[in-house]
Amino acid sequence: RKIDLSYSDDLLKDHEIIALKEQVILAHNQIHNKTGLGNELLGWLDYPNTYNKEEFNKVKKIAKKIKNDSDILVVIGIGGSYLGARAVIEAINHTFYNLLPKSKRKYPQILFAGNNLSSNYMNDLIEIMEDKDISINVISKSGTTMETTIAFRILKKFMERKYGKEAYKRIYVTTDKEKGLMKTLADKKGYETFVIPDDIGGRFSVLTSVGLLSMAVSGVNIDELINGAKDALEEYSNQNVFENNSYKYAAIRNIFYRKGKDLEILVNYEPSLQFFSEWWKQLFAESEGKDGKGIMPLSLTYSTDLHSLGQYIQDGKRNLFETIINIEKVRSDIRICEDEDDDKEFEFLNGKSVDYVNKKAFEGTKMAHIKGNVPNVVITIPELNEYYLGKLIYFFQKSCALSGYLLGVNPFDQPGVEEYKRNMIRLIKSAQ
Ligand code: PA5
Repeated sequence: RKIDLSYSDDLLKDHEIIALKEQVILAHNQIHNKTGLGNELLGWLDYPNTYNKEEFNKVKKIAKKIKNDSDILVVIGIGGSYLGARAVIEAINHTFYNLLPKSKRKYPQILFAGNNLSSNYMNDLIEIMEDKDISINVISKSGTTMETTIAFRILKKFMERKYGKEAYKRIYVTTDKEKGLMKTLADKKGYETFVIPDDIGGRFSVLTSVGLLSMAVSGVNIDELINGAKDALEEYSNQNVFENNSYKYAAIRNIFYRKGKDLEILVNYEPSLQFFSEWWKQLFAESEGKDGKGIMPLSLTYSTDLHSLGQYIQDGKRNLFETIINIEKVRSDIRICEDEDDDKEFEFLNGKSVDYVNKKAFEGTKMAHIKGNVPNVVITIPELNEYYLGKLIYFFQKSCALSGYLLGVNPFDQPGVEEYKRNMIRLIKSAQ
């Protein structure tokens, strides 16, 4: 089944999309003929068909080993080298996966490091790791990212203290095939390595070994994830904006942006999608936020955030639109039990289920926000499984590339993130 896309047509007319039809075809050709800006980083486009099967099987083999010999897998990485894996692991698994007793969880806990510079976080993580069997997967395309380097230095030492000469058997490095400090170190120490393809940038790399190893360790079916992406590749290769929902989503965003709606909020009604939203935010912010342009991507979880930002969205400055990820069928529902202590005020809840109420919250909020002049785009997937997640990932990647070209930017570089790094390094060096 397809990923469905709908929107409030009183706030967006078909002729506005028709007006973009030719521009969409031009951008489509830039992507498919590899003639646009940043075209050296289009490896993700055909990846679901062309991925390295040997590497994929190695991921499965090592995942099996880690499942057998570890209580915890620590994934060290930041940005594109971290968010995709966490997004899928949290979306697919039990909400409290890491807290489940070992008998129920079956597979290692997955913890993350190197995505911040907090010493508290690092010390607390080490405390958790003390009496457990550990494996580490450090991920960095450049091999020079500060957060990743620091966390890896500390955790490598931890592993060497704990396992001595055998430590190298539990450290897995995902990096460039030949360049960079991480690769040099891996070769010197004998660590098993996985390759980040040259032509795939960090935020487009979730379906490579970058994301797949930790996902597979947590029990995610990575074959199904790739199958979803493969079907998406086929489905979203149509240049006609009216027959390609991925392009239609890009066109709609572009239209809203031109109308002054420069804030997009990705909304979910499932807390397990919070990190999927983090992944999406990075994808669009780093791809489009440049040359003084771009929609600012934000994300919220409802109904939680309706009790904090709901007021602003209903009544505040009218420069925003919402994109809602709507999941038709939940993994498990729960009936709301009757309560003899209820004084009849909530009697109407009797016999209903929590997901039924969640769906009504979605419908009611959509009506209210559209009335409040906040356009709603709804992306519907039948259920939250590996197949549809793979499809959705590809849907957004393709859409993001097209959207970037419609905006006239290079969707594949991120020159703006270097500035803070230069300052930080200069400040550290000058204090010596
Ligand atoms: O999308 C990107 O390119 C970035 O977010 C990177 O993934 C992030 O900065 C980490 O870089 P690296 O993998 O080189 O450590």
